[in-house]
Order: sequence, then C-alpha cells, then structure tokens
Amino acid sequence: MGWISAHAEPPQVVAMVDSPDKVLHVELSLDEGRISYAVSRFGVPVIASSRLGFLLRNTEKLERNFALATQATRSVDETWEQPWGETRTVRNHYTELTARFTEQVKLKRSLDLVFRVYDDGVGFRYAFPDQPQLKDVVIDDELTEFAVVPKATAWWIPGGEWNRYEYLYNRTPLDQVGQAHTPMTIRTGDGLHIAFHEAALVDYAGMWLRRVEGQRFRAQLAPASEGWKVRRQAPFATPWRTLVIADSAAGLYESNLELNLNEPNRLGDVSWFKPAKYVGVWWEMHLNKSSWATGPTHGATTANTKRYIDFAANNGFRGVLVEGWNTGWDGQWFGNGNDFDFTTPTADFDLEGLAAYAKKKGVHLIGHHETGGAVNHYEKQLDAALDLYARLGIDVVKSGYVADAGQIERNDGDGVVRREWHDGQWMARHHLRVVEEAAKRHIAINPHEPIKDTGLRRTYPNWVSREGARGMEYAAWGNPPNPPEHEVNLVFTRMLAGPMDFTPGILSLEGRGQAVQTTIAKQLALYVVLYSPIQMAADLPENYIKHADAFQFIKDVAVDWSETHVLNGEVGDYVTIVRKDRNSEDWFLGSLTDGNGRVLSVPLSFLDPGRIYIAEIYRDGDDANWQSNPFAFTAEKREVTSTDTLTLRLAAGGGQAIRFNPKDKQ
Ligand code: NOJ
Repeated sequence: MGWISAHAEPPQVVAMVDSPDKVLHVELSLDEGRISYAVSRFGVPVIASSRLGFLLRNTEKLERNFALATQATRSVDETWEQPWGETRTVRNHYTELTARFTEQVKLKRSLDLVFRVYDDGVGFRYAFPDQPQLKDVVIDDELTEFAVVPKATAWWIPGGEWNRYEYLYNRTPLDQVGQAHTPMTIRTGDGLHIAFHEAALVDYAGMWLRRVEGQRFRAQLAPASEGWKVRRQAPFATPWRTLVIADSAAGLYESNLELNLNEPNRLGDVSWFKPAKYVGVWWEMHLNKSSWATGPTHGATTANTKRYIDFAANNGFRGVLVEGWNTGWDGQWFGNGNDFDFTTPTADFDLEGLAAYAKKKGVHLIGHHETGGAVNHYEKQLDAALDLYARLGIDVVKSGYVADAGQIERNDGDGVVRREWHDGQWMARHHLRVVEEAAKRHIAINPHEPIKDTGLRRTYPNWVSREGARGMEYAAWGNPPNPPEHEVNLVFTRMLAGPMDFTPGILSLEGRGQAVQTTIAKQLALYVVLYSPIQMAADLPENYIKHADAFQFIKDVAVDWSETHVLNGEVGDYVTIVRKDRNSEDWFLGSLTDGNGRVLSVPLSFLDPGRIYIAEIYRDGDDANWQSNPFAFTAEKREVTSTDTLTLRLAAGGGQAIRFNPKDKQ
C-alpha cells in the first residue's frame, strides 16, 4: 500500500502543554486526522506518539478525520486537606490543556481531550460533549495507547485472569508483558520510574494494559455481559489515564497525582470515620482452627467473640471483625452467595448482645458482608443490612466478592443470569452504590475482591480501604505462599493506587501448615509501610500474649498521618518509610527488605531539630533470617536527634520498625 504513505503528510503537532516547572512536556498531534499524544521529560522522549480514540457500536469508530477545533490551557495551584490519610495536606499543581477535536466528514462528531500535566506525571481523559449525533455512547473498545520509548523492566500482575488481582508480581523486560492490571510500574535503564494507572474510575470499565508489540500497550477495557465494554449517555468523561513519572521509586510513592485527579470530598464532614486498628475472628478460619460454617467448629460464636472483644478492650483496639456471623455460610458459598442473609445472625451468635457488650467496653464490632459474588442478591438486602449495622453502632463494614473473575452474578429480574467482571462497568456502579448508601448511615466500607482503587477515597472518604492484591491470607494457605519480596513489590505497585487491608501482624509466623516467610520485625514494619487507615492485628490473641514484646509496637503504632516520606527504596527490593502521627508528636519508621539481608543508612533529619526522641527500636536479631532463624528479634531503646543517622540491619526476609517518641512528652 505504498501509495498511501507516498501521499501522507507528516504528523502535525497541533497543541502542547508543559508541566508547571517544565519537567514534562506533552504534545498532541494529528496524523491524517488521527489524534495521538507524546510525552517527554526534560526534552527526552518517554512516550512516543500514541494513538487515541474509540471503537463504537452501531456507528463509525471515533478515531479518524479529526481536526483541532479549539484549545485552552489553564494553570492550577491549590492545596487541600485530607480528612484522613498519609499526609494532612495535598498540593495540586498542574497545567491543563483541553483540546476539542471535530470530525471533518460525515457525522462531524466532537471529542474532547483533557490533559493535566504535573511535574511528576500526566493524567488525561476523554470527554464526550453533548451533541445530537452521539448521545448513546456504546464503547466496544478504547484505543488509547502507551508507547514507551526507553527500554524498561516492568513489575506487573496479569490482567483479565481468573484470580482477579491476587497474583505474585512478575518482574520482566517490558517487552515481555502480556496483559497487565494497573498500577504497572516500570524502570528504565536510566533509572526513570513510571507507574501506569487510572484515576476516578466511575461508571466505566477498568482498564487493563495489553501489549501490542515491543513496548507499545493498548487500553483493554474489562468486558461487560452485554458484549460492549461501556455504555454511557453523553455528556460524560472517562476516567483519567495516568502516568506517574519520577526519577526514583520513592518519587512514585510520594506523588499525589492519583488523589488530585479525583473530585473533592462529596460527603462533607466525615469525622464520624475513625481511623483505627482492629482484631477479629478471622485468621483462625484461615488456619482451619475454626470455620465460617455453623457447627462444632463455628468461629463466630458469642463466647469466642466476647474473647476478642475483651482482648480488644484490654489492648486499645477499636474494632472487632467477625466473619461467619450470619446465615448462608453452610453450603458451598464460593462464587455462590445466594444463601447469604445479611440481617439474620446464626443461632449461636447474639449480635445485639455482643454489640451492646462491645459498646460497654468502648469497642465496635466490624461488620462483614460476604456476597460470594451474588451482587443483586446482596443489593436487595443492602438497605436493611446497613440499617441494622447503623442501629448497632457498627460503623465499618468489610465486604467480599469471592467469585472467579468474570463470574459476578447479575440478575436483572428477567430470569437470565448474567456474569460480570469484578472490574467491569457494572461493578464500578455497584461499589459506588454501596459506598453512597453506607455514607448516608455514617458507615465506612472495606471491600475484598474489590474493583481496583483509583483514588475515589478523595470523593468518598468512607471508602477507606480494600484488598485487591494478595494479602496475608496467602501466607496462611497460598500455593505458593507470599515470598519475602511480595510486600516490597506491593509498595511500588498496588500501594500506589491507595490503602490496602493487607492484615499484617502474624507474630506466630505460622500459617496453615506452612511458615509465614518473614521475620518478627518485618511483621511490625508492615504497619508503617503498607498504609491503611484501618489496620488489622491479624494474629490470634494467644499469639500476641506469647509475643508481648513485639506486640507492644502494634499497640503503639498510629494509623493516621500528617506527613509521609519515603527515605529510600527500590521496586521489589527494599523500602524505608517514615510517617508522622496526626494525633501526637510521634514519628514511626518501617523498613522492609526482600529475601536479601541488607544494611541501610537512615538520616533522621525528618525529626524536629533540637529535640531528643526515644527511639523504640524493634529490629531483626543479629542472626535473624526468615528461613533459618525467623524469631530472632530485639527490642531496644536509645536516644536520638535529627542530626543522627541510624544504621538499619535488615535480615534476609526481614525488616525494622521504630517509634520515635519525644523525650519532653514522656
Ligand atoms: C476472602 C477475603 O480476602 C478474606 O479476608 C475473607 O476472610 C474471605 N474472603 C471470606 O469472606
């Protein structure tokens, strides 16, 4: 077809925009009417000319014959406050380009592209304007591409596979990725780090990244039972496609681009949500010591729950999660949740009495709604289920969607059972419906087997945490279990999306017939490193009593922060994070390594100058090793100031946790 290129015009740059300090530069081009974008950093190409557009159902694709109709730029520099989070304030500083493209032939449809360019990344979205010739927008495919220029290594999990987001991370050359979930993180030969993700996934399908060729990826939207991917009425905007770009792994983690691209808080005063730690009738089921099902081994009995409530009250935990409390667990509930009743406790679980008992002791039960993926069945009961909890002072609910990917049960009432994806448009709607209903009742939501986090906690601050990766339960029974590098993989991939209910703190180091691949000190460090405003102390009470020295850190560690700094780190290798408690003058440090022991030097310049702190150090014993000597552990105290540098010795598979407690506050 040489005659086409013989007549081709070279691509024309039609619009461009720089980040506030001119670190990043974005160009929009037209190549024979096709829109593409490119990104460079300090003049060096990062994303080569990458295609934009859509395949639509029952109409021509929205991809060719465009001309630029209008363009506008603006600059924004504002600071907003998080009700809870890793930092109290967030600066939102970007330059925005809005470009309207209009087809020159036939339907003459318009499509807007909005780019927000930060010094540490780019977010862009499509907006479908209100126009009579494109009202009912039925998207078969989004054609957005990401053509990465420099050779890179990628950390990724497969997208569109049966186990949702619960995979071990692959570390491969970028040109060996198949189809990945986001966040996908890459590092180039020059040490540039890029995380690909999306922000504000509202009423749209989640985006996977499918490698087309070489280092070129295309958006692959999660399917819908109808056959298309997304159906919306214009006007509407898509989620933001995001690239955080930094010259260190730390820079990826410290970026606020994800939150900034979400809409401000819609819920107003959310001080009713209390960041807190919790315990629960949970790990014992994963160990097979008790069951969700009723009978002689039932975990959620009144007596057993009282034991946990007492333990919580005696040790300063606000929450007590109880799973298996309601009827519906006795059959095969995996992917089959139609027996679940969300308002009827089992006969041996005195819900009302326990809620009152907890209240008397200053503790709150945490609710649990496992749906087994039967989502309409759950939605029918949602109002009554949340009303019940609200009446009993149960103000955090963990939910669950245990079903293989693509097997969410949808029932429109027409007798046909449809199957949806956990991250398809239908589930994006479902999750927000639950979050909004819960917010009306001042209840916070923590879904497991969720849709991925895209920063919606900014808009709905009661969407406090979620799973969406391999959590601690895989240490109990995973085959293979979580290896020592798992958590350092999570920090610079999954955790870039937002809080995770990882449920750390297994001090017994014992799963279901297999070792948890960690040292004791590493379990403590996870509380600082893997951020969530609700953090579980997941082990059995009797194990905490046995390991009282290490347990002290879990009791002391904060969960809500005014500042966060990543002091060092490499994706998949190690990381050290410090955070300042919002409710005291204390700082906390968490440091983790993979299967390799290492020595890290940490300057304490984040501490207040001139102030003496007692460093309460919880470290690996001198000869600790996750395989051969995992329990070797030392707790010690020393005085430090901001001019000191600490040497952290992390064992293979180990970590370190430190509380810095100002001496003048003792
Ligand atoms: C999977 C969740 O991740 C886990 O925490 C929960 O215990 C089970 N589902 C049952 O709901």
